[in-house]
Amino acid sequence: FSDGKVNSNLMILGDFPGQEEDKSGIPFSGREGDLLNNMLKAIKRDRNNTYLSNMVFWRPPGNRKPNNEEINICLPFVKRHIALIKPKILVLMGAITAQTMMNSREGITQIRGKWREIKIDNISFKSIAIYHPLFLLKQGARKREAWIDLQEIDSALNRERTK
Ligand code: URA
Repeated sequence: FSDGKVNSNLMILGDFPGQEEDKSGIPFSGREGDLLNNMLKAIKRDRNNTYLSNMVFWRPPGNRKPNNEEINICLPFVKRHIALIKPKILVLMGAITAQTMMNSREGITQIRGKWREIKIDNISFKSIAIYHPLFLLKQGARKREAWIDLQEIDSALNRERTK
């Protein structure tokens, strides 16, 4: 369901658990998790000061993508989860999560790297979409954009700190 520090100013929402996560019960504990840990390290972060969860709480059978019904079942819980954690910065990792939370049909290459406000229970959450580590493992050339987005997240977190 989640990993990391509960009252962190940074919350990362992934797509859905994979095979490794199914076994361990910990979000991002497989190969994608290793890359995520390195991405966090690049902005001097780790799971001791970051909170992680997923858009869909279970692994869809056969590793298929979650369908709309599954996403819609989880959505109210995800919104409540965010409202309870109250992160200063919400990172939406991957196309499914970004499109659902930003209510957008644009592809991840279009919506990544742009700040948007997501309203939940009348509170606005500063949110940004970034590439999913699985996507980056397949398309290494996209790491440059992910790096730019991580720097943007780091700057926003520093700004929040000095507010
Ligand atoms: N991919 C995700 O989006 N979440 C996980 O927990 C693991 C892989």
